Amino acid sequence: MSPVTMIPPGSTIGMLGAGQLGRMTALAAARLGYKVHVFAPESMDSSCGQVVAYHTQAGWHDRLALARFADDVDVITLEWENVPTETVEFLSRHVGVHPGAPVLAVAQDRLAEKRFANSLGIGTAPFHAVDGVAALKEAMAAIGGRAILKSTRMGYDGRGQVRLAPDSDLVAAWESLGADMAVLEGFVDFTCEISVIVARSANGATAAYPVAENRHRDGILDTTTVPARVTAPVAAEATRIALLMAEKLEVVGLLAVEMFVTPDGRVLVNEMAPRPHNSGHWTMDFAETCQFEQLVRAVCGLPLGSTSARGACVMTNLIGADADHWADYLAEPGTHLHLYGKGEARPGRKMGHINRPA
Ligand SMILES: Nc1ncnc2c1ncn2[C@@H]1O[C@H](COP(=O)(O)OP(=O)(O)O)[C@@H](O)[C@H]1O
Ligand SMILES: [Mg+2]
Repeated sequence: MSPVTMIPPGSTIGMLGAGQLGRMTALAAARLGYKVHVFAPESMDSSCGQVVAYHTQAGWHDRLALARFADDVDVITLEWENVPTETVEFLSRHVGVHPGAPVLAVAQDRLAEKRFANSLGIGTAPFHAVDGVAALKEAMAAIGGRAILKSTRMGYDGRGQVRLAPDSDLVAAWESLGADMAVLEGFVDFTCEISVIVARSANGATAAYPVAENRHRDGILDTTTVPARVTAPVAAEATRIALLMAEKLEVVGLLAVEMFVTPDGRVLVNEMAPRPHNSGHWTMDFAETCQFEQLVRAVCGLPLGSTSARGACVMTNLIGADADHWADYLAEPGTHLHLYGKGEARPGRKMGHINRPA
C-alpha cells in the first residue's frame, strides 16, 4: 500500500452535485470539522446549497468556474454519478477527485456495468444491447418472455424504463423510451432485492456495511430493512461481490451495489452507484459510522469507521406528500426524521426519510 496524503479536518471538500446526498455528506463533513464547497448548476437554495460554506453555481462545462473551484478545495467528491467524465478529468488535473472518471465511465452506462460484472464472473439478468426497433425485436425474441427496456444512461427511480411482455407494442415502447441506446433485460422473478455499500479509501482499506433489503414502490425505493432477511451464504456472496467490484474498479469513496436474490439462492447484480445511496440512509441512526461520514473518511484518507449495525431497523422514504406528516413522525418515540429542505413536494420527489427500530 502506498502512503496517501491525509486531508485533515479544517480542509475544504468539494462536492459535485447539490441534492440530498450532498447535503447529508456536508452535514457529516461539518461534524468532523471540514468545510464543503458545492459545485452544481442549481441555485444556492438547493438541498445541499442550504447547508454548505461555499457555493459555485455554474454549468458542468464552465472551465473557468471549474478551475476556480478546484483551486479553492483540497479534495473533490460527488453525489451524482452522471457528472460528465470530461468535467472530472479536467478537475483531476488540479486536485484529487474521488471517485475518478474511470469509475464514472462504468457507472454512467448500464451496459458497461453489466459487462463489467460479467467480466468478474458475477451474474446479471440476461441482457442485450438495443439501438432501435429491429434490435429490440431480436432481443425480445432471444429473451423469450417478460423483459424491461432501460435507457443505458441517466435513468433513476424507475425513470427511463419500460416493462414489456411478449405481446407488447415494441415500436411504441421504443418511441416512448426516447433514448438512442438501451439495454433489454430479462425480467428476474426475485425473492428479494438487496444492496451492499462498500467504502474503499485511497490506501486500499475497505469496509462493507451489512446487507440491506430493499422494497420498491412505483420504481422508487420505499423501505430498506437491515439486516436483510437472507441466508448467511447469500449475505456472504453479496458482500463478496460488492467488495470485488469496488476493488477491481479501484473506487475511492463508496460503492453501492444493487442485487437480486433468485428463488434458487443466486445473487445477480442489477446496478451500482459510486456514491452514498438511498439504501444506506439507515446508517445515519443505526450504524456505528454513517455512510456520509464514511465517504468523508475514505476521500480524506482517514481511517474507515466501523460499519456495524447497532440494531435492526427500517428506513422509509418520504416521497412527495408523505413528508407532510413530519409532525406525526416527530411524535413517535424512537423514530428519527430527516428532511432534505426541498421546496415543493411533487409526486415521486424524495423529500426526506425516517429511520425506525425494526
Ligand atoms: N431485470 C429486472 N427484473 C425484475 N425487476 C427489475 C429488473 N430491473 C429492474 N427491476 C425493478 O425496477 C427497479 C428499478 O430498476 P433499476 O435498474 O434499479 O433502475 P433505477 O436506476 O431506476 O433504480 C429495481 O429496483 C427492481 O425493483
Ligand atoms: Mg436502482
